[in-house]
Amino acid sequence: MKLLVANWKMNLTVHQTLDWCQNYLELFKEIDHKLIICPSYPALTAVSQLIKDTDIALCGQSCSEHRNGSYTGQVDAQSLAQVGCSYVLVGHSEERNAFNLTNEQVAQKALRVLEAGMIPIICIGEPETVYQAGKTQEYLEEQLFDIKRAFNGAPAYIAYEPIWAIGTSKIPTNEELIKIVNNLKLFIQGCAFLYGGSVNAETITQLNQIKDFCGYLVGNASLDGHELKKMMELP
Ligand code: PGA
Repeated sequence: MKLLVANWKMNLTVHQTLDWCQNYLELFKEIDHKLIICPSYPALTAVSQLIKDTDIALCGQSCSEHRNGSYTGQVDAQSLAQVGCSYVLVGHSEERNAFNLTNEQVAQKALRVLEAGMIPIICIGEPETVYQAGKTQEYLEEQLFDIKRAFNGAPAYIAYEPIWAIGTSKIPTNEELIKIVNNLKLFIQGCAFLYGGSVNAETITQLNQIKDFCGYLVGNASLDGHELKKMMELP
């Protein structure tokens, strides 16, 4: 049973998110997959009510590295727990890029998530230049260094998302992925690994041949509930 994390990013307004739930939640009532959905902040409370009798879990798209204080525009991890989140994405490449996040800040965010009783989904991944230079492993270990030091052994998901694979229809080969995930497992213990980047109903059959990932972080393809359901059904 693989886990699917639907990352809706800023693609749906609150009204569109509620429409998604109305149109598709029924499809996911009886599934033997685990589904986690990541709506935008303002939709969390309403969605949490809509999924309360289902096995679907709620995930924030980020949180502040601070516990509380004068940080206009930021959202603290505890509040996300209070509105029903059990997971929070931290360090998605789009967020790292938009806010120039350091690896240390990403580690702090992950710690705030753990302190608030939730599970962080920590995103890592290399840009194309690093991939072309054959330096992916070093790059990922550097991204994880502070996290390994801060909470080796704490429950967390690590989502490996090569930046060049996000939204491009390109994915690494299975050989590349198997090598990366096995090296990461040696580097940091206690985490479960997800793959993200152009996961859809076409690529998932190839990816499902890899047993080392316990699930996927899905962007674009998760906006279509029927495609998401199909991905659960494909071998
Ligand atoms: P994608 O996005 O599935 O659209 O490539 C994945 C992600 O950014 O998490």
